[in-house]
Amino acid sequence: MSIQDNFRLAMRRYIYSVSIMSNRDSNDNPNAITVSSVTSISMEPPSILICINKSSKIHDSIVLGSKFCINLLTKDQHELSNICSDDQKHDQRFADQNWNLDNLPFLKNAQANIFCKVDKLSSYHTHTIVIGLVEDANFADTISTLTYVDGDYK
Ligand SMILES: Cc1cc2nc3c(=O)[nH]c(=O)nc-3n(C[C@H](O)[C@H](O)[C@H](O)COP(=O)(O)O)c2cc1C
Repeated sequence: MSIQDNFRLAMRRYIYSVSIMSNRDSNDNPNAITVSSVTSISMEPPSILICINKSSKIHDSIVLGSKFCINLLTKDQHELSNICSDDQKHDQRFADQNWNLDNLPFLKNAQANIFCKVDKLSSYHTHTIVIGLVEDANFADTISTLTYVDGDYK
């Protein structure tokens, strides 16, 4: 097997939490993408990073100073995760009634919402590492996080 195959299979052993990153582009259109590459960086300042594929629709709308939200999903939101990771379902991404679309889109019934401003962008081959300064966060009392391991939801 190639190093890529070994690496892929090794990474499939990780348990990921599943989030949807949401924002608005410069024309005010909402974007949403399923992501697992969310990691907190530090508390001083409160900061987070996400790796975004350059080929994704949301990518070019993520610019310095722009706002985004990381919506950590609950176990019963796997269908929404599927919709936001299917490039044939862009028209369904904001059909869920739990989106608040007043300004920056966010999911009202997520496990947690982390509201950020893009502080730094770093290009790495196929991906951009997005560093967000956390401006606000909230969370549900009961823990029921959607997880993903070996290519499937758990
Ligand atoms: C569980 C899961 C986690 C994912 N994590 C990421 C991620 O961290 N970064 C990324 O760029 N794509 C990730 N993807 C893939 C994108 O969600 C998918 O390619 C999406 O269709 C790209 O957005 P677009 O269709 O709007 O172009 C993930 C997909 C799944 C199912």
